[in-house]
Amino acid sequence: MYNLLKGKKGIIFGALNEQSIAWKTAQACYREGAQLVLTNAPIALRMGEINKLSAECGNAPVIPADVVNMDDLKKLFEESMKHFGGGIDFILHSIGMSLNVRKGKAYTEIDYNFNQKTLDISAMSLHRVLRTAWDLDALNEGASVVALTYIAAQRVFPDYNEMADAKALLESVTRSFGYYYGIKKKVRVNTISQSPTKTTAGSGVKGFDGFMAYAEKMSPLGNASGEDCANYCTLLFSDYAKMVTMQNLFHDGGFSFTGVTQQVIDQMEK
Ligand code: NAI
Repeated sequence: MYNLLKGKKGIIFGALNEQSIAWKTAQACYREGAQLVLTNAPIALRMGEINKLSAECGNAPVIPADVVNMDDLKKLFEESMKHFGGGIDFILHSIGMSLNVRKGKAYTEIDYNFNQKTLDISAMSLHRVLRTAWDLDALNEGASVVALTYIAAQRVFPDYNEMADAKALLESVTRSFGYYYGIKKKVRVNTISQSPTKTTAGSGVKGFDGFMAYAEKMSPLGNASGEDCANYCTLLFSDYAKMVTMQNLFHDGGFSFTGVTQQVIDQMEK
């Protein structure tokens, strides 16, 4: 515990259950001294698990918001500001959903209506969140916004399907909005490109266990865990990263810059 976020106020999107990266990030932010508001889609809140997290995080309010509904987002920001008695210092966008993957459609056969929803929920939602904050002037000077992404935005991982395109769009929105918000209020917007992590969303990817084992062997430090990712988020929310913006930051044990490892070669020679 370093009190990295002492006095800071943040909104955490996407804590579904204890495996969620957002869940672990909320715990880490609270541990580092932040005050929190938790949010998720109304349907995800119905299971009630988030109340456990809220209790652990100083009875943080839980405010439902479907991230593609602008009225929900407006209400979320207004209620959060009221709760905090002022502006917001950080936001975690930890949201992903592929309708085509859910419906078992291969990349070459995607349904375009599903695809539009996927892109809206998983990528344009970051624009919607930032736009709502912008319109309400909800973010404090130097605030930090982090969204979670995956390296399939840069390289092909076949079963990642349309989410690869969604992540590429998410990273682009990060750069574009980061430019405008940087100039307006020194707000930082970045993505963290995380190792495969066993969560509800992660396990939706076909062949996920093989995928994860391969990444583990291909990373000099091994796969980064959800807890590691949560700690990295707290660093980016803190003032120690105040000049970092519009970046896609790989948090993957070195996977992204490794051509091959001896472990993988040994496996191939078996
Ligand atoms: P998760 O399933 O715990 O979290 C996904 C969240 O998105 C859930 O809380 C869900 O309720 C929320 N969500 C879906 N539709 C929504 C909507 N319309 N409005 C509001 N919230 C909505 O899984 P995980 O893995 O923690 O995912 C968090 C983020 O991390 C996602 O962006 C994911 O793509 C990303 N990521 C995950 C990796 C993994 O291997 N698990 C690797 C790299 C990135």
